Amino acid sequence: MSLRSKRGKTDCVIGLQWGDEGKGKIVDFLSEKRDLVVRYQGGSNAGHTVMANGEEFIFHLIPTGILHRNVKCVIGQGVVFDPEKFFEEVEVLRSHGVRIEGRLFVSRRVHVVFPYHKALDSLRERHAGEKKIGTTSLGIGPAYSDKSARLGIRLCDLIDRTTFEVLLAQNLKEKNALIRSAYKGRGFSFKELYERYADYGKRLVPFLCDCGEIVRDALKKGKKVLFEGAQGTLLDIDNGTYPFVTSSSTGVDGIASGAGVSPQVIGRVFGVLKAYATRVGGGPHPTEESGEVGNLLRERGGEYGATTGRPRRCGWLDCVSAKYAADLNDVDSLIITKLDVLTGLKRLKVAVAYRIGSKEVREFPCQVSALWKAKPVYIEVPGWSEEIGGARRFSQLPKNARNYIRLIEKLVGRPVSIISVGSSREQVIGR
Ligand code: GDP
Ligand code: IMO
Ligand code: MG
Repeated sequence: MSLRSKRGKTDCVIGLQWGDEGKGKIVDFLSEKRDLVVRYQGGSNAGHTVMANGEEFIFHLIPTGILHRNVKCVIGQGVVFDPEKFFEEVEVLRSHGVRIEGRLFVSRRVHVVFPYHKALDSLRERHAGEKKIGTTSLGIGPAYSDKSARLGIRLCDLIDRTTFEVLLAQNLKEKNALIRSAYKGRGFSFKELYERYADYGKRLVPFLCDCGEIVRDALKKGKKVLFEGAQGTLLDIDNGTYPFVTSSSTGVDGIASGAGVSPQVIGRVFGVLKAYATRVGGGPHPTEESGEVGNLLRERGGEYGATTGRPRRCGWLDCVSAKYAADLNDVDSLIITKLDVLTGLKRLKVAVAYRIGSKEVREFPCQVSALWKAKPVYIEVPGWSEEIGGARRFSQLPKNARNYIRLIEKLVGRPVSIISVGSSREQVIGR
């Protein structure tokens, strides 16, 4: 039976900037009415924050939907999977009384992140000096590189002791040589890694699944599925600000391969856009404000990395890159987050074009050399002074806040369906 008619049953939440748009909060909000939430790319570099009943949860690997008792969660094969981080997260959830059994599944095809991936990530960054990417040092790039080089070790290989032994020996031979000779680092002991990771494999058996099958089965039964994106479109390996990107497909295009489903099942696409722009790590950020405005946004918005604690680089909303990202993913609607953070700013700036040398461009450039030179062309609009965290209807927002939303709709060319006005679950305006 074709699932084409079931398209309407799936929703996708993806970031339209450089990550940290507030996807976690939105996925948590939408999960209440969903049956299945699926992560399909990235790894523990993600940090998705949810404020639920006054408590803060930060998810790195486990889909955010897990806080809702009736929701099942799956980690699809597009994810690079760090067993150590996974069990840490499971423990935190259990200590909060969240039931995991029978609700959390991991594709047996996920590639495993090993300590040598993290070591190589850190060593490469250290050796790159000024040219470093500013990664999370969680082994994401090296794990995806091994997958593409067909050297990776998947969960299905980890649980098969003979296969694991052969693959680990093959990998360690190469990685230890590289670490020792190119980076003058310390290698890894086969015995120690083998025993520790074979044990993880054993503990992971009850979680193993075929992700695509779970999604298809859910759709056949008329259940509602949500795909939870990590990172953001501008960090996408193919379409982002390469090489200052992560190593996975962060947009809707990652869903089919990362969850093991046909692109035909992709239904509504929600693009999450923070009301201003942030970036953590290196790379160009045309609207970055290094002075007073940047500091104010960072402090008011709590803009410190959920995974690494690094200060995020803040600036004005950039509608050149936002339009590029929205078009690329053909988003059905925008979700604007953190509008409350802008309260109190007398004037707001929004980038509508870039000046690069003597040219004014409206298309998002492909080369970072152009982006480094890009000077934003702004329009300025009046801000508002009222606190808006209590607003639950669009009409309850101050006039200038409503105008700001309408301006985004016009510049990005997509309607805004949800506005978030605070970090807690209920601080949401539906339109
Ligand atoms: P994600 O990676 O896209 O899930 O975003 P993060 O969780 O890394 O960062 C978003 C931060 O903003 C978190 O601390 C959230 O609790 C917080 N947040 C989300 N939505 C809002 C909002 O509308 N207003 C405010 N003030 N904070 C928000
Ligand atoms: P969420 O899902 C923000 C950034 C890193 C670095 C670059 C490459 O919370 O939005 P990596 O470790 O992936 O090789 O680092 O990508 N980065 C993120 N920035 N939010 C994230 O995830 C990120 N995941 C990776 O800071 O610049
Ligand atoms: Mg984050």
